[in-house]
Amino acid sequence: MSVAEFPLLRPVQNFVSTPRKMLIDGQWQASQSGKTFDSFNPATGEVLAKVAEGDKADIDAAVKAARKAFESGPWHLMTPSGRAKLLWKLADLIDANTDELAQLESLDNGKPFAVAKAADVPLAAELFRYMAGWCTKIDGAVLNLSVPYMPGAQFHAYTMREPLGVIGQIIPWNFPLLMAAWKLGPALAVGNTVVLKPAEQTPLSALRLGELMIEAGFPNGVINIVPGFGETAGAALSAHHGVDKIAFTGSTEVGKMIVKAAAGNLKKVTLELGGKSPNVVFADSDVDAAIAGAASAVFFNQGQVCCAGTRLFVEKKIYDKVVSGVADAAKKIKVGHGLDPNTHMGPLVSQDQFDRVTMFLKSGRDEGAEFVTGGGRVGTSGYFVEPTVLSKTHDKMKVVQEEIFGPVVTAMPFTDVEEIAAQANNSVYGLAAGVWTRDTSKAHRLAKLIRAGTVWINCYNVFDASLPFGGYKQSGWGREMGKEALELYTETKAVCMQI
Ligand code: NAI
Ligand code: MG
Repeated sequence: MSVAEFPLLRPVQNFVSTPRKMLIDGQWQASQSGKTFDSFNPATGEVLAKVAEGDKADIDAAVKAARKAFESGPWHLMTPSGRAKLLWKLADLIDANTDELAQLESLDNGKPFAVAKAADVPLAAELFRYMAGWCTKIDGAVLNLSVPYMPGAQFHAYTMREPLGVIGQIIPWNFPLLMAAWKLGPALAVGNTVVLKPAEQTPLSALRLGELMIEAGFPNGVINIVPGFGETAGAALSAHHGVDKIAFTGSTEVGKMIVKAAAGNLKKVTLELGGKSPNVVFADSDVDAAIAGAASAVFFNQGQVCCAGTRLFVEKKIYDKVVSGVADAAKKIKVGHGLDPNTHMGPLVSQDQFDRVTMFLKSGRDEGAEFVTGGGRVGTSGYFVEPTVLSKTHDKMKVVQEEIFGPVVTAMPFTDVEEIAAQANNSVYGLAAGVWTRDTSKAHRLAKLIRAGTVWINCYNVFDASLPFGGYKQSGWGREMGKEALELYTETKAVCMQI
């Protein structure tokens, strides 16, 4: 399958055919080393574009520009309403360039164009609109004091919320544009400046977003984008003493490295890490809806979703029906090039990810899981794997405990609510969960018992800028989206005057 079979939009063709530069202080620049790296098209394994390779020196320059923009100049003086207008304008520009952004995302990440167009791009625009609304609503409180050792003294005391300063943001490759939006929206809404490092597998849509931010009118240095590798650019950003907070999404392993690197200047850290989310289907659910929901909970985005419903627990009496229903849904999924309009599921993002998922499939086989469907590669080029349903799995198996990050679900039967809560929580992760039942009391009781940042009832993978998202346990620290995210990008200052 060659890309040539699928016509590219003219702006996309132009974007990928010129080496992409990094954005520092409002200027598009080559890396200081002059080095570039390749971004690949995972549907073909071919080089898609050349991108400037940022390293420590570029991160230094970007942090310096962000500091200058934070402490002086138009951003520092801008009203909250001024910031809101920029964020709203950015959202409009994203909408106006939807097809182009969706095509770039599909080419660089592999996901179907239709999915990027229906989900990734509009969700990014809506995130910026939601955050634009908050700019003018970040406020503190007037406080009443009773200081025991100052009888009769009176005070005028209040709190205010201030931006943290320079924020370092490191994002993954599964939703490249949307993750950039989740990170940039709240940070900028409250007046921070940012150095963003996109994933090395998928830097293109963030770089295009940078162009749109300049077009929207964000002042120089407010947003700096330095593409590069994790071990170099990412490590330099997370260790940098000029950075006040690092916000990271990616593997739990790298999350732990970031915490260590951040300790040098005790910068704030928020982390959105891995998951192994339970999806619980009761016999009293709308079974057809539960089957469709269970399939999309795990197969959406090729299974490369941190909150994917990978551990499917089904009440024993409907177990066979649900497992065969999910397997039938898996067999109907058309796997192919993201730009092919018939495609439901694209390739995995990279050779590494393909090897990782293949290793897990082998492990499932070695540990005795039953492959109800799938388990193999699709085609001979590109990183395509079959949507896979595993049965006869149990809690001790690697495929049940570890994050696979591919289109693989493990199914297990259960018999009662108390047992299922314990089983659902039997994971080092706690990102999300799904519950399918018509008994609303049971649903909310289980929602209380499950230790996860999000519980979806009779739905799955519902995202909205107002819904806070993040993890319990080793799924992370803090929340993205919602007003929770804004709080994590501000400091509270208490001001107290004796009157
Ligand atoms: P990763 O955690 O290595 O990459 C995520 C981001 O972190 C990228 O921008 C990368 O350049 C950066 N990074 C890597 N090493 C770094 C370091 N030492 N210091 C600072 N930044 C660093 O994830 P990877 O290797 O791409 O994927 C491996 C597994 O991680 C996946 O199979 C999946 O299980 C998990 N993952 C989870 C994601 C999520 O949404 N929570 C997203 C991507 C991966
Ligand atoms: Mg790529």
